[in-house]
Amino acid sequence: MTLRLFIPVDAGALAVGAEEVASALGAAAARQKVAVDVVRTGSRGLYWLEPMVEAQTSAGRVAYGPVTASDAEGLLRAILADGAHALRQGLTEEIPWLKRQTRLTFARCGVVDPRSLEDYRAHDGCKGLERALALGPAATVEKVVESGLRGRGGAGFPTGIKWRTVAQTPPQQKYIVCNADEGDSGTFADRMIMEGDPFVLIEGMAVAGIAVGATKGYVYIRSEYPHAAATMEAAIAAARRGGLLGNRVANSSFAFDMEVRVGAGAYVCGEETSLLDSLEGKRGLVRAKPPLPAHKGLFGRPTVINNVLSFASVPIIMDKGGAFYRDFGMGKSRGTVPIQLAGNIKYGGLFEAAFGITLGELVNDVGGGTRSGRPVRAVQVGGPLGAYFPRALFDTPFDYEAFAARDGLIGHGGIVVFDDTVDMAKQARFAMEFCAIESCGKCTPCRVGSTRGVEVIDHIIRGENRAANTALLEDLCHTLKFGSLCALGGFTPYPVMSALTYFPEDFGAPPRLLAAE
Ligand SMILES: Cc1cc2nc3c(=O)[nH]c(=O)nc-3n(C[C@H](O)[C@H](O)[C@H](O)COP(=O)(O)O)c2cc1C
Ligand code: SF4
Repeated sequence: MTLRLFIPVDAGALAVGAEEVASALGAAAARQKVAVDVVRTGSRGLYWLEPMVEAQTSAGRVAYGPVTASDAEGLLRAILADGAHALRQGLTEEIPWLKRQTRLTFARCGVVDPRSLEDYRAHDGCKGLERALALGPAATVEKVVESGLRGRGGAGFPTGIKWRTVAQTPPQQKYIVCNADEGDSGTFADRMIMEGDPFVLIEGMAVAGIAVGATKGYVYIRSEYPHAAATMEAAIAAARRGGLLGNRVANSSFAFDMEVRVGAGAYVCGEETSLLDSLEGKRGLVRAKPPLPAHKGLFGRPTVINNVLSFASVPIIMDKGGAFYRDFGMGKSRGTVPIQLAGNIKYGGLFEAAFGITLGELVNDVGGGTRSGRPVRAVQVGGPLGAYFPRALFDTPFDYEAFAARDGLIGHGGIVVFDDTVDMAKQARFAMEFCAIESCGKCTPCRVGSTRGVEVIDHIIRGENRAANTALLEDLCHTLKFGSLCALGGFTPYPVMSALTYFPEDFGAPPRLLAAE
């Protein structure tokens, strides 16, 4: 009998030794003369358990982690005996952290072989595409509208409405562009999809192409993601061979093909119009809107540009229906959101849940508080442009409007946790400096204002003319917020002002009294 083991090839798992574990298990199998079939998967997203090895049993997959190469010999023996081992976590699907989740977008991540189209099909893959082909373009667009799906890249714009706009432009060359620049701090969900379930992204983009009449797609991947780019390339080639891409998508009359493009590395190239410039071979510079990319996008043609997670949510919407997806969530935030728990957190990883879960539940219950064991002081939600929230705001539900009402943003769903050793004045300075470094330079408030902002924060930190400099910083933030062309300049005031508002003592002012958690 052959033993089946599952070991991730996800970059996060590789970073902590998954490759060494895989080869040590292979060598141990040769020594113990047992036949082992190793399947390389994506990660389940329980990163504190990586490298996590799963063994197929008659009851399901059993997880062991975190495994090191030196564990291999004993672990293999234990798996072949009764399975008992100090690193045993039980049946993977029963691990409470995983069981608590609602995995719609990430249902297959960590389960399937990301390079095998057959495996994808065997786990309900391609059903959404088949449904889209049966429904036709117009009804497909309306299904996505009905689902209430909002873009997961940051702005939360309704995906179906964007598709409808492109679909309604006159027939011509149109494009589907996937934004896989994933520049936000503490985010890794796009990478996990591309490395763990790339066919779901290909399927989502093919559905988009059919829906709006686009025959060509591009996935724009940041250069820091070489594993994701390689996996996507392999999956696209497999999809072509398997008839999922090409002149007759799944034997239909629709044509759709796509390719990978690797970015050169700039945060602003995640901004959609800047990304389009970069894709065209130019320096990434933000374009003034209008015209919207939906009307005049890549190479001046109508373009759907969506985040990886937005496209990856489409297959299940098409398969199970718009109403099914819409049933999850709260308010105008429908469906599930893949939340990424990072920074100083005990149980960091990918947690997919319906919108509505509170920040406190995520940080304290799911995340288990800080990794350092010290009290949580602040969390930054939504990347480098997101506000710093103190514990007093932990009752905020994950909902676009609820976060906006508190001057925060969900962004791409990244949460970075800080303990009580954090210096929030330094964090505010960092936010402003980030803007100065990453500014594309097109507009003055951002290009000049961010550099002046760093200087003003330095004055405040040094205690120079504190009241006047604080007023100046507030004024500068106001100019950035309302005078910037894009959200890089427009949102930098949020981390800066939230640090100043909730943690004034770090700027030398008296502490603010906040309601208890
Ligand atoms: C400075 C800046 C950086 C951005 N970076 C990203 C990014 O890395 N990935 C992403 O999907 N969206 C990013 N966005 C948002 C995109 O401009 C755009 O809203 C998104 O690609 C639209 O896709 P969606 O509707 O599916 O979210 C960024 C926006 C700004 C202003
Ligand atoms: S706000 Fe900054 S990044 Fe955005 S267009 Fe202006 S200069 Fe460029």
